[in-house]
Amino acid sequence: MYKILKKRILAPDICLMEVSAYRVASSAQPGQFVIVRVNQHGERVPLTICDFDPVAGSVTIVTQRVGASSRKILALEEGDAFVDFVGPLGMPSEFVHEKDEVLQNKKYLFIAGGLGTAPVYPQVKYLHTRGVQAEVIIGAKTRELIIMEEEMMQVASRVHICTDDGSYGFKGLVTAKLKELLDNGNHYDQAVAIGPMIMMKFVTLTARDYSLPLIVSLNTLMVDGTGMCGACRVTVGGQTRFACVDGPEFDAYQVDFDEAIRRQSMYKEQEIEADHKCKIGLGNG
Ligand code: NAD
Ligand code: FES
Repeated sequence: MYKILKKRILAPDICLMEVSAYRVASSAQPGQFVIVRVNQHGERVPLTICDFDPVAGSVTIVTQRVGASSRKILALEEGDAFVDFVGPLGMPSEFVHEKDEVLQNKKYLFIAGGLGTAPVYPQVKYLHTRGVQAEVIIGAKTRELIIMEEEMMQVASRVHICTDDGSYGFKGLVTAKLKELLDNGNHYDQAVAIGPMIMMKFVTLTARDYSLPLIVSLNTLMVDGTGMCGACRVTVGGQTRFACVDGPEFDAYQVDFDEAIRRQSMYKEQEIEADHKCKIGLGNG
């Protein structure tokens, strides 16, 4: 069992949990994820790793209530435990393999959309510890949905906040902020976008106009997380790849986003039905 050491509400329906998971914490790297189960009957839920502390043996995850399984996760409290906490899964971000002298000559730009801010944080933190400059654009619908701003300010060289409704920071989508930064002559050697699939598609279309190298992290459906079931199948560079073992990060310009978006909503009806059952107390476990 994997005990919840701390729980903190970050925004309405979004919570951060620090979970005791020594083995995951000791080998986790930025870019990787875990698959958790709330109980024996629970669905396997992939969650990106938001932080990890090998000394304390803890891993931080951030969950947003979007359906039945995330509703069950959010209902857990400090002292409760996950029955499964499997990881670290997936490939680490490519930059972990680069030498300091190469990395330190690069300027990174991260584009984080909504909950995608959580997996961006460990990447920026990692680069900060290696003396690499990284700017971050954080976008959310409204001010109260901006998460991890303070933590990001500690590790990023600059943070640009955007809200769709203009309630905080720049008024507009992350793509508008990206365009503004690039039009104003800012130069970045590498960009990384993490957020809703539709956001990553449009960031890719914007970045292409400026020949900005771009990596995206694909949050596909997942079941086993080990390359066996095919649930996370995506087409990258015309080839079938599995986000759980070949990714989740890929070269944005090679990704077939339209197919990825279609596949992501394949079980929408079943998800809505399961969430409804969970709300009225008929869900599994
Ligand atoms: P959201 O819909 O509120 O979008 C967040 C921001 O993304 C918006 O404020 C906007 O700036 C930008 N955005 C959204 N649609 C856009 C578009 N069409 N064009 C340009 N920019 C756009 O996000 P949310 O509700 O917080 O997101 C939750 C989603 O994030 C879920 O689908 C979840 O699966 C996904 N997510 C992805 C990852 C990942 O690894 N890629 C990790 C965690 C969560
Ligand atoms: Fe099953 Fe990737 S989740 S193959």
